[in-house]
Amino acid sequence: MRIGVLTSGGDCPGLNAVIRSVVHRAVVDHGDEVIGFHDGWKGLLECDYRKLDLDAVGGILARGGTILGSSRVQPAHLRGGVERARGHVADLGLDVIIPIGGEGTLKAANLLSEAGLPIVGVPKTIDNDIASTDVTFGFDTAVGVATEALDRLKTTAESHQRVLIVEVMGRHTGWIALHSGMAAGAHAIVVPERPFDIGELTALVGKRFSAGKRFAIVVVAEGAKPREGSMKFDEGGTDIYGHERFAGVAGQLAVELEQRLDKEARPVILGHVQRGGTPTAYDRVLATRFGWHAVEAAHRGEFGMLTALHGTDIDMVPLAEAVETLKTVPAERYAEAECVL
Ligand code: F6P
Repeated sequence: MRIGVLTSGGDCPGLNAVIRSVVHRAVVDHGDEVIGFHDGWKGLLECDYRKLDLDAVGGILARGGTILGSSRVQPAHLRGGVERARGHVADLGLDVIIPIGGEGTLKAANLLSEAGLPIVGVPKTIDNDIASTDVTFGFDTAVGVATEALDRLKTTAESHQRVLIVEVMGRHTGWIALHSGMAAGAHAIVVPERPFDIGELTALVGKRFSAGKRFAIVVVAEGAKPREGSMKFDEGGTDIYGHERFAGVAGQLAVELEQRLDKEARPVILGHVQRGGTPTAYDRVLATRFGWHAVEAAHRGEFGMLTALHGTDIDMVPLAEAVETLKTVPAERYAEAECVL
């Protein structure tokens, strides 16, 4: 079998572990040939690739980022993109494409699959918002980075009697905010799923100071917004790929809370540090298992499918189903966090 693999969309710790696992399972166990496209779908569209053998994936398990590079280019962005992809798959004699990506990548994968191309997807995102899998690799690493940052920020916040508003990633969902906030014992957690009321948030943080505490830590997901009419808010805009580019919720919250509480407040934006560096053991294992199962699905001819973690098992689910909705933080999960704020 001839396999093409690519990594697309925002990078994520664990991508290299998937690539390594695909190559090991395919080349060593099945005698397949594997090629890796450079910079996501762009590599497929431009026929830009390299052969992946055991040497090529040596020593990459613990490495962050992706040895193949990534981009947000999608076949549908270019005129004739789907036909071009189809042509290159045929010219290269590929039996399957394994795209490793998040929401946008999987939508593109589904489009190509519906156009008749043989695709087996692997989900990835630090945001953990792919509905058809219990967890995506990268999430555990990102939560660990954010939690360590929050622990560190507590000591400086206390020294200066400040409110620190810590913005974590999460365009549409608040999983990183929820988990890091719970793990670090934040005093307020603000997620996109629950538009915040600035009055209620001020009261929650203010209660801490009235009780004699010297500082407060608020974790906010970058995509969080205030409740309609609750405060003046700049939402930002979109980039050339149609992705939201936020104006910065932490900065705006810091201004409001400082004025309302008469306490010094500072925004801290963790940004891409959450996506960089070595994956945790959990993420390496999940990524490795996804790679293994993707190759097996390809050998069974199960195309148009995606690897997914359900409990402790890896299953295959239809790509079409996986791109229907995002996995948001349910009210019950938020309530569990709220009770320990
Ligand atoms: O989808 C993962 C993610 O990390 C989001 O949480 C974040 O909004 C986005 O990627 C940032 O993307 P970029 O690296 O293109 O700025």
